[in-house]
Amino acid sequence: MKVTVVGAGNVGATCANVLAHNEIANEIVLLDIKDGFAEGKALDIWETSPINLYDSRITGSTNDYSKTADSEVVVITSGLPRKPGMTRDDLIATNAGIVKSVTEQVIKYSPDAKIIIVSNPLDVMTYAAYLTAKIDSKRVFGMAGVLDTARYRSFLAMELNVSPKDIQAVLMGGHGDTMVPLPRYTTVSGIPVTELIEEDKLNAIIERTKKGGGEIVNLLGTSAWYAPGAAAAQMVEAVVRDQKRIFPVCALLNGEYGLNNIYLGVPAKLGKDGLEEIIELKLNDEEKELLYTSANAVKEVMEVLDNMGVMTA
Ligand code: NAI
Ligand code: 2OP
Repeated sequence: MKVTVVGAGNVGATCANVLAHNEIANEIVLLDIKDGFAEGKALDIWETSPINLYDSRITGSTNDYSKTADSEVVVITSGLPRKPGMTRDDLIATNAGIVKSVTEQVIKYSPDAKIIIVSNPLDVMTYAAYLTAKIDSKRVFGMAGVLDTARYRSFLAMELNVSPKDIQAVLMGGHGDTMVPLPRYTTVSGIPVTELIEEDKLNAIIERTKKGGGEIVNLLGTSAWYAPGAAAAQMVEAVVRDQKRIFPVCALLNGEYGLNNIYLGVPAKLGKDGLEEIIELKLNDEEKELLYTSANAVKEVMEVLDNMGVMTA
């Protein structure tokens, strides 16, 4: 079973490394447009196999999509990352062009693939891939919430001095500063987090989570890769192993939560068919308002993309 990762940069190579290390796919193809880059990264990863004791085969390709043929899952990470001072939306024109051309090639060679988008601005790039691929939206979805909840859970683990393994959380909305972590759906081994932490501390963690991407950009001068790569690999695993896991996934909404024709983060089940079910929570009025504010922020970026004409070019 084959998994392809397009973009052998920081996130793509990390994702491929996790896929190989954990033997999530027995064949992994890493593809990049830069000459020799994916081959070099793939060879370096493969050379860890005798140390890390796995036998997943990983190979690289410079823009030759025939090598990706019949992939079960394709992760698209190609595109520019954020630099300090940039928002995710600043990347829109360049990354939309890249996502469009990559998706065309992906679908040509792997018409049955499930496609997981990572490129930013995430919600709108996932929508762009969906428009390009012209396949069921169950097979085109985006990675953001797995990363954003991981950040939220890791901050809570630090504050509470407990294992991050025991923290479960739901987070909805777009992958931006309007994302909606949901304290009412956050527990530590089943204990509502609100019983374990003071409100002001929880609010500070929620704010830190919303700006979690920017925090890393300011420290590193580019965006994060270890947690994003691992998050994408976890979604691939749920699909290829038909795990029926529930994650926050960037999914096309057709009436769910009263929203239509928009890709947004919602709790969803991932299995062999891709995004198998969207779970509709009974949000209270405050949560709904936060979700709609986030949806409006994503819609604004969708309009920017529409006005650029990139998708119709
Ligand atoms: P990077 O610059 O390290 O890697 C991007 C790679 O894409 C480069 O190697 C580049 O050569 C390649 N590429 C560019 N155009 C291509 C094309 N047409 N075909 C194939 N490959 C192409 O960037 P990094 O840090 O890996 O980030 C990748 C993307 O993921 C960015 O858009 C970033 O904003 C986004 N991101 C999204 C996250 C999320 O939660 N959804 C989290 C972290 C990053
Ligand atoms: C992140 O959240 C920038 O989307 C990227 O790290």
